[in-house]
Amino acid sequence: FEPPLAVNEPIYDYAPGTECKDELKQAIRILKSTEVDVPMFIDGKEVRTGNKISMHPPYEHAYTLGHFHMGDKSHVESAIDAALAARKEWGSLPWQDRAAIFLKAADLIAGPYRARMNAATMLCQSKNAYQSEIDAVCELIDFLRFNVQFMTELYAGQPESAEGVWNRLEYRPLEGFVFAITPFNFTAIAGNLCAAPAMMGNTVVWKPAESQVYSAALIMEIFMEAGLPDGVINMILVDGPVAGDVVFSHKEFAGLHFTGSTGVFQHLWKTIGNNISNYKSYPRIVGETGGKDFVVAHNSAHPDEVATALARGAFEFQGQKCSAASRAYVPASIWDKVWEKLASQVKSFKMGSPEDFTNFINAVIDEKSFDKISGYIENVKKSDDAEIIIGGGCDKSKGYFIEPTIIRAKNPRTVTMCEEIFGPVLTIYVYEDDQFEEILKICDETSPYALTGSILAKDRNVINYATKALENSAGNFYINDKPTGAVVGQQPFGGGRASGTNDKAGSILNLYRWVSPRTIKETF
Ligand code: NAD
Ligand code: ALA
Repeated sequence: FEPPLAVNEPIYDYAPGTECKDELKQAIRILKSTEVDVPMFIDGKEVRTGNKISMHPPYEHAYTLGHFHMGDKSHVESAIDAALAARKEWGSLPWQDRAAIFLKAADLIAGPYRARMNAATMLCQSKNAYQSEIDAVCELIDFLRFNVQFMTELYAGQPESAEGVWNRLEYRPLEGFVFAITPFNFTAIAGNLCAAPAMMGNTVVWKPAESQVYSAALIMEIFMEAGLPDGVINMILVDGPVAGDVVFSHKEFAGLHFTGSTGVFQHLWKTIGNNISNYKSYPRIVGETGGKDFVVAHNSAHPDEVATALARGAFEFQGQKCSAASRAYVPASIWDKVWEKLASQVKSFKMGSPEDFTNFINAVIDEKSFDKISGYIENVKKSDDAEIIIGGGCDKSKGYFIEPTIIRAKNPRTVTMCEEIFGPVLTIYVYEDDQFEEILKICDETSPYALTGSILAKDRNVINYATKALENSAGNFYINDKPTGAVVGQQPFGGGRASGTNDKAGSILNLYRWVSPRTIKETF
């Protein structure tokens, strides 16, 4: 059995008059005419507790989409029991049989579920149609299909044998269950974080973020329709700390697959460390966390290309993308030209509901996020270190709207050049052209993160110098491009330092973390 070679799923553009646009509009209408009711999925069954939490689109508080059923400690325990009960059979299936289920799931997303996945992600997570298509459809499909291809390579990897000796590597699943904790901002990440360990024969307890539960429930429906056996992935809707208390004190906790903020990940790691002597094996800890992604422009760069990298890199997905550009260093000699183009692009962005397909900027995810981002903006208004040069408006009366905002820093170490804001806010420092080498040092030192970053320059020596000088500053480094838009199978994604364990989501490196190989030597 050789699975088909993976290719990236084509992105639909939802241009006016296209069939896919009509289907998507219809899916939005259906979603809005139903009261969404999101259960948990434990041991292949939908679980409704009656403890209903209302769901509202981030861009329209007044509208109620429906609700989800909140669980408690007992549901975490049931999910762990189900995962442990399913382990033996699932782990001993030929890997091809597991792979086939996820390939089928990818086809279901590409076909019958495409419009529903997009509608759910647009309305619940406030993304426009194109952004949702990139995330909830194409990237998720790519994760599933490419992981199957990586499985083929991984399982084929065998040691040398010698005369009279046959050496084998048996890629066994971990001994216990895996806990997947996922963020609000990417449906694809959520799907991949529970699917990747399951593909490698593990069973999973999955806790999605509260604001992503509807697309998470659709993912469960799709996996089950594709043939996923009961108990292999169990989705719980429980407060993080409540779930964490039960999971991290369980003897058979075998791995954490996390994406979210650095602070939460560090807290979880400490909790795991405190329990380390209670576990049967050392748990695998894989985490993709925060970022303070940068663009460094050199004076040999084309000003229009710098402007486009900044406008798209910083403001697509409302800047609520882990890779979004949030600080930039631009040389004084090209600043006026960069600014002219950048300002005109940013002024052209329309902000509003994703249901109007012409809107580019949508609301940020929730009140906590809004308050954090607007807090940074308000502080800049009072600061001597920086000034707002475009945007700065924040309004949560109808939805959580924050204008695309550009801050000009007088000091390259000002707070908005260093801390993760996770919203549509870009801070730019304009440097003297002869400070370029020093700027690279500052760029490397001013933030604890190392997720994504770009150098824009035409001079090859400069590109080589910057690539070396910033070698530890970004796990995904771009030359003459925006620092966003990594494609599965092309640019494996993940960062170091405070940005994560750098296990590269959507790559064979990630899959290796979910196996516990046994070496067998047989002598004849
Ligand atoms: P978050 O850390 O607030 O939440 C992430 C998940 O952790 C959620 O499901 C949340 O409910 C859960 N959680 C929170 N506290 C917990 C606890 N004590 N125990 C168990 N679970 C707990 O992050 P978020 O706001 O959902 O996402 C935004 C963050 O994610 C940003 O920092 C962003 O940079 C990061 N992110 C990183 C990547 C990457 O690839 N590096 C990708 C996407 C998002
Ligand atoms: N794949 C997404 C990006 O790189 C997260 O922007």
